Amino acid sequence: MDKNQDTTRQEFADGADVPKQSFPARLRRSCVRFWWLYFFSFVALVLVIVLPIVYVGYPTLAQKTINRSAITLNSYAIRHPTPSSFDLGIDYTILSNSSNHANLDSYNASLYLPASENSFVTFEVPAVKSGKATDVSIDQNVTIDLPEELVKFCMIALESDTYDLNVRGRGGLKLGSLPRTSVKYNKTVQSKGLNKLKGFNITRFSLLQDTGPFNANAEGQVMIPNPSEITLDAGNVTATMRVADTLIGNVTLPDLTLKPGNETYTMYATTNQTAVGGLLQQSAYRCGVLPLDVTPDQSVYDGQMIPYLTTALRAATLRVDLDVGPALAEAGFGALIPDDCR
Ligand SMILES: *[C@@H]1O[C@H](CO)[C@@H](O)[C@H](O)[C@H]1NC(C)=O
Ligand SMILES: *[C@@H]1O[C@H](CO)[C@@H](O)[C@H](O)[C@H]1NC(C)=O
Ligand SMILES: *[C@@H]1O[C@H](CO)[C@@H](O)[C@H](O)[C@H]1NC(C)=O
Ligand SMILES: *[C@@H]1O[C@H](CO)[C@@H](O)[C@H](O)[C@H]1NC(C)=O
Ligand SMILES: *[C@@H]1O[C@H](CO)[C@@H](O)[C@H](O)[C@H]1NC(C)=O
Ligand SMILES: *[C@@H]1O[C@H](CO)[C@@H](O)[C@H](O)[C@H]1NC(C)=O
Ligand SMILES: *[C@@H]1O[C@H](CO)[C@@H](O)[C@H](O)[C@H]1NC(C)=O
Ligand SMILES: *[C@@H]1O[C@H](CO)[C@@H](O)[C@H](O)[C@H]1NC(C)=O
Ligand SMILES: *[C@@H]1O[C@H](CO)[C@@H](O)[C@H](O)[C@H]1NC(C)=O
Ligand SMILES: *[C@@H]1O[C@H](CO)[C@@H](O)[C@H](O)[C@H]1NC(C)=O
Repeated sequence: MDKNQDTTRQEFADGADVPKQSFPARLRRSCVRFWWLYFFSFVALVLVIVLPIVYVGYPTLAQKTINRSAITLNSYAIRHPTPSSFDLGIDYTILSNSSNHANLDSYNASLYLPASENSFVTFEVPAVKSGKATDVSIDQNVTIDLPEELVKFCMIALESDTYDLNVRGRGGLKLGSLPRTSVKYNKTVQSKGLNKLKGFNITRFSLLQDTGPFNANAEGQVMIPNPSEITLDAGNVTATMRVADTLIGNVTLPDLTLKPGNETYTMYATTNQTAVGGLLQQSAYRCGVLPLDVTPDQSVYDGQMIPYLTTALRAATLRVDLDVGPALAEAGFGALIPDDCR
């Protein structure tokens, strides 16, 4: 201890003409002389750390936040269809567990069938601030991107119990005061389908005294089960009715707007009385229960046949047992049904 102090004192004494400076003093001197070097090194270091965060880490984080979010479809609608456009309504919720509440810019989203490279429709998603659950509501007149893809979509939606839809797009994302970055959207959404309209039924059927709308000689009600969340304007839907390949007439569902749930709709029918009378002569149908095959023919909206709805509907054949007994009794033809049937 003492020796050290002595040495120090000795050094000061020896080097009196070229004084050695203490470290802080030397640092100060160096700083004054080389301030610019330190300054630029500091700036470079900051850039080396900050730039990758802002331009690599942050976009990756932003993309990860989007990737980890999910979408649930609450309801959707196809309204006012024309052969090349329709009003698309979609209500969905973006779910995110991220604590980053980003501002998502408006962007164009396209709907695809999974694994398809071609979209069938594109719509503009509004700008939203994302949270834990963010509701988004869209109602837009959209033009059809590719009719063939829309037909496929309509057929899948009609025939499936559940099906997947892919939503893709690219848009801006802004987090706090960080610069805007671009993110890719690619989400698969599961939706309930119409399940082949299973459970379709004719719940009321009466003969008309006078000719009704659409040349009808009968009218009634049909129940169309719609387990999906879709509301669909199908316009005037016509179908043919056959019993064991014998054409017995046609039906029209006027101004059909298919709603979710088990709803009933008005129907008008034009039946060939001669053909029905002939069937009732056959032992299989003598009690008046006709196993009808109802095959949709077309969907006409505002005087225009809607090709995508027509093609999808034509693929469906609905079997329903129609008991014409009550309608005949009501019209005073009860005698056509033998007593032993009751
Ligand atoms: C986001 O998901 C896509 C696939 O949809 C993947 O290619 C990409 O690497 C993911 N990005 C990040 C940052 O996780
Ligand atoms: C959020 O976290 C909950 C609970 O861990 C989980 O059930 C849910 O799937 C997560 N949601 C998303 C969008 O990751
Ligand atoms: C969406 O696409 C339309 C037509 O290409 C364009 O006019 C519109 O600016 C786009 N919107 C956004 C938010 O990119
Ligand atoms: C949607 O736009 C198309 C083409 O511009 C038009 O023909 C159609 O009438 C529009 N539909 C509605 C419901 O406004
Ligand atoms: C979208 O994501 C799916 C599955 O995550 C992937 O298979 C597909 O290649 C992606 N498509 C695009 C265009 O990124
Ligand atoms: C609709 O009817 C079907 C049978 O036709 C039944 O299974 C289903 O539970 C009904 N749904 C509702 C919401 O009543
Ligand atoms: C169809 O409706 C009729 C009349 O309401 C009813 O008697 C019949 O049981 C129904 N059929 C089915 C399969 O629900
Ligand atoms: C239904 O059949 C009647 C009689 O054959 C016919 O006048 C009518 O135009 C047909 N309706 C449809 C929509 O095919
Ligand atoms: C009605 O059915 C009978 C017997 O099947 C048939 O001969 C006749 O041509 C049909 N009438 C019409 C208008 O289709
Ligand atoms: C259905 O047909 C009737 C009678 O032809 C017509 O007045 C009505 O506008 C049509 N509905 C639609 C949605 O086209």
